[in-house]
Amino acid sequence: MKEHKIIRYTVLIAMGCIFLAGCYYDVGEELYPTSQCDLADVSYSTDIIPILTDNTCISCHNNVSPQGSIKLDTYSEVKINAENGKLFGSMNHDSGFKPMPQGSSNKTDQCSLDKIRTWIENGAQNN
Ligand code: HEC
Repeated sequence: MKEHKIIRYTVLIAMGCIFLAGCYYDVGEELYPTSQCDLADVSYSTDIIPILTDNTCISCHNNVSPQGSIKLDTYSEVKINAENGKLFGSMNHDSGFKPMPQGSSNKTDQCSLDKIRTWIENGAQNN
């Protein structure tokens, strides 16, 4: 009788493990990060503004109290910093630039950096 119980519990535990393992699933974005980054039609309005907003840049670099005298809330101001190299240099943590976002260890994700670089290479247009 006792052996029967042990076998029954062993089977139950084994089944539980298989069941739990089944809950693991692969997230495509994590497995193939580059496949999600579309650099074909990078635009100021649909790509660059959301990147600057999502990375909290606008909260410190707006017209109300621009930190470091840098404003990133209008196209013309973003364009100036795109063309003088500061926008990408600071976001990419290049040497010689202040790493942004300031006070955060979160560097902007690679796809967003690639979009910023592509947008600048394409002439930093207001598109
Ligand atoms: C918490 C506030 C804060 C956030 C968030 C922030 N910045 Fe800054 N930023 C600053 C301050 C302050 C300076 C001036 C730093 C200095 O001169 O030491 C600065 C400087 C800069 C500069 C000039 C860099 C240089 O080397 O001259 C750029 C460009 C810039 N920020 C862009 C950004 C971008 C892009 C983001 C978002 C990824 C961002 N900032 C997020 C506060 C912030």
